[in-house]
Amino acid sequence: MRLAVNVDHIATLREARGENEPDPVIAAGICELAGAEGIVCHLREDRRHINDRDVRLLRDVVKTKLDLEMAATDEMLKIAIETLPEIVTLVPEKRKELTTEGGLNMASEKERLKDYIKELRSKEISVSLFIDPEPVNVDLAIELNADIIEIHTGKFANTRTERDQITELSKIGVTARMASELGLVVTAGHGLNYTNIFPLLSIAEIQEVSIGHSLMARAVFTGLQKAVEDMLNIVRRIN
Ligand code: PXP
Repeated sequence: MRLAVNVDHIATLREARGENEPDPVIAAGICELAGAEGIVCHLREDRRHINDRDVRLLRDVVKTKLDLEMAATDEMLKIAIETLPEIVTLVPEKRKELTTEGGLNMASEKERLKDYIKELRSKEISVSLFIDPEPVNVDLAIELNADIIEIHTGKFANTRTERDQITELSKIGVTARMASELGLVVTAGHGLNYTNIFPLLSIAEIQEVSIGHSLMARAVFTGLQKAVEDMLNIVRRIN
């Protein structure tokens, strides 16, 4: 399993003070030096953390893979095509949410999304769709011609009983297996931390996880390099 690190929260800290530090671009370099296999940033419509300058510089600096998370709007399409990240992850976006709350609703705008994805893929950008773990979403991702699905693990991460956790894990497993059999690359993310990630390691089809908040929270105390290394040891199953 590979690790992609989301650097949004470094920018959140910067924006809290309205200064120019800490810089998510420097964070990306440290994450890569520590062994992360990808860097993720979410350019939100309201630019609450990552901004246009960050995306431009991240594009220049990131040597692994840059995954630009964004809503499927015209503005973001233009930015993606100018920036050419390796991956675009399409997510739903609500102005008032604290973080992405659910997977994409693809059924309601299939034709528009199909064209949108076609445009990105024509620029050799791989397209990932952030989906809730339901088989119907895999069918839709195939229909829309996506390359990757990122399974939303938020509900799994928020479970409070073993029984609920098993139910959610099983949904993730079924979705991952189905997507993999149909030729999609399978990744997962949201709400994953140094504890709840362990059961996910049993799902061999999940090739990559995307982690931000818990990793940055640990980095405050241990330093970013160590926080990335600690997570890499888990996903690479090194004791
Ligand atoms: N994947 C997606 C699509 C996200 O929107 C986020 C949050 O920005 C993450 C992964 C990472 O989630 P977390 O910060 O909870 O690790």
